[in-house]
Amino acid sequence: MKKALITGASSGIGRSMSFSLASMGHELILVARRLQRLEELKKELLSLYPHLKIKLIDSDVNSPDLGKRIAEASNEKIDVLINNAGLALGKDFVQDSQWSDLEMMIQTNIMANFKLVHLVLPWMLKHGEGDIINLCSVAGHHSYQGGAVYCATKHAVHSFTQALREETCGKNIRIMQISPGMVETEFSLTRFKGDQTTAENVYAGMKALSADDIADMMQFMLSRPRHVVIDEIITMPMAQGSPTKVVRSN
Ligand SMILES: NC(=O)c1ccc[n+]([C@@H]2O[C@H](COP(=O)([O-])OP(=O)(O)OC[C@H]3O[C@@H](n4cnc5c(N)ncnc54)[C@H](OP(=O)(O)O)[C@@H]3O)[C@@H](O)[C@H]2O)c1
Repeated sequence: MKKALITGASSGIGRSMSFSLASMGHELILVARRLQRLEELKKELLSLYPHLKIKLIDSDVNSPDLGKRIAEASNEKIDVLINNAGLALGKDFVQDSQWSDLEMMIQTNIMANFKLVHLVLPWMLKHGEGDIINLCSVAGHHSYQGGAVYCATKHAVHSFTQALREETCGKNIRIMQISPGMVETEFSLTRFKGDQTTAENVYAGMKALSADDIADMMQFMLSRPRHVVIDEIITMPMAQGSPTKVVRSN
């Protein structure tokens, strides 16, 4: 039985991925700040998979004691790390942004992501096997105005993933990355700080990807034979041509 650690499991892509990993029979360790959401998710998962082992860690990924809690919950054995927790905050130009927002993106999208790999990779190497999927973005390939720091954080993830792939080559560790375009989750609600109308307008007149679409891709990557590594999936909805080009029906 494989053990999967998913950060940002309380919403969106991480939540959908939890169902996919459960369907694959993996034990789950779910991390997010909103405990109630995690508890509801656990209940739903157990109603589908009554024998599934699920542990919840209600924590900020930036919390200094997260590593200790993960070590205890996993007994220092993680087979699959889904490094998913992340966010964009605001869409202002740099000079108009709040520094605390930029700092939060850097801490969460870069520092916490790298720290988890630093924690878990030695356990994978010791056990001789492991899969890591980092959630990057098309913003990790193409920067756009109003997203300077978010794009920079995802470029950092992309670069980190590429180097890790070289470092772990030949060690039975698969380092992979998914880079989506627009996925309709709580991402925009968070970005626009609870402004529902602005968040909904992001997806107006077009069909965005769903969190389940991304979870399907994750499942495909993980279910390949072990000699097959899907380095990266870059995916956008039909109506999106690039981070800055979207065609809407009205
Ligand atoms: N949606 C998109 O269009 C899109 C496109 C490309 C890439 N992505 C990436 O996909 C990943 C998932 O985003 P999503 O679309 O699923 O957004 P979402 O619905 O807003 O989910 C974000 C998740 O991250 C968790 N999270 C955020 N900050 C955290 C923190 N400091 N500590 C712990 N957990 C934290 C949230 O949980 P709590 O709030 O409960 O802590 C939530 O579960 C992100 O890395 C995002 O950058 C999204």
